[in-house]
Amino acid sequence: MTQEPVHYETRDSIAWITIDRPDVLNALSRAVRRELAVALDRATTDRDAAAVVITGAGERSFSVGADISEFNGPLAPSADETIGGAPRWHEAPARCPKPVIAAINGFCLGGGLELALACDLRICASRATFALPEVSLGVVPGAGGTQRLPRVVGLGPALAMILTGDRIDAREANRIGLVTRVVPDADLRTEAQALATRIAGHGRLALECAKAAVYRGLDIPLDSGLAVEAELNARVMGSQEQVDRAAAFADRSKNA
Ligand code: COA
Repeated sequence: MTQEPVHYETRDSIAWITIDRPDVLNALSRAVRRELAVALDRATTDRDAAAVVITGAGERSFSVGADISEFNGPLAPSADETIGGAPRWHEAPARCPKPVIAAINGFCLGGGLELALACDLRICASRATFALPEVSLGVVPGAGGTQRLPRVVGLGPALAMILTGDRIDAREANRIGLVTRVVPDADLRTEAQALATRIAGHGRLALECAKAAVYRGLDIPLDSGLAVEAELNARVMGSQEQVDRAAAFADRSKNA
């Protein structure tokens, strides 16, 4: 029986998606990229899942990026998913309406970093290291790295990482805003579950609309972005969830 390269499990309202190829440091084979997209689609429709965490199996690696053993195949590793205009695998986290957190447990290199960048939030273990080493292999970061990294950390730090290919540690990743938190290695999974649970406690429609507003507004003029925000806010206002939460807040104030 073939070992599934990506596991999906829902724990206490949080969907955990685990890349499970620890022998090759969770390299992103074609099968992994395909199954990651499938798992994120599953999380989208999973009524028991309010938020999603993506991580890597084992203690050493989130993912070391594209599976280099597939580099000499008939298609370049990142070109195959774009043929015919099909959605790209690394667009799946943003397409998922639920919050998606990358819990980075070790090496986060190349396509592994591009996957993390495609997630909404990134937290990491203190042993984690980060790099886009593609130029050293004579290729370009091809799964969104050249586009998402500057949007997350700004042009200077992004160009430094992309053009040198140098690795940075967790503390530096936190300093430049690549991750929002660094936690002790042994606590990463517990902390990711706690963060996801805290976020999942908020209004589900509000989370979906807030996420959509951010991504839809990213590359359009401010006026248009504000119109998108107003449209999404109008969807939330008056919803059962919003009415219930406003009532609960009013009750809390009365009872205080
Ligand atoms: N694709 C496929 N297999 C990979 C891989 C990748 N990107 N990165 C590591 N592996 C495999 C190794 O071939 C090795 O398998 P083997 O035991 O069957 O030989 C196993 O994972 C362990 O890697 P190894 O290099 O022995 O571990 P290390 O601790 O000495 O080094 C790294 C770890 C991450 C520094 C090193 O593996 C590396 O630089 N990998 C390439 C990362 C990269 O360039 N990614 C971007 C691709 S565009």
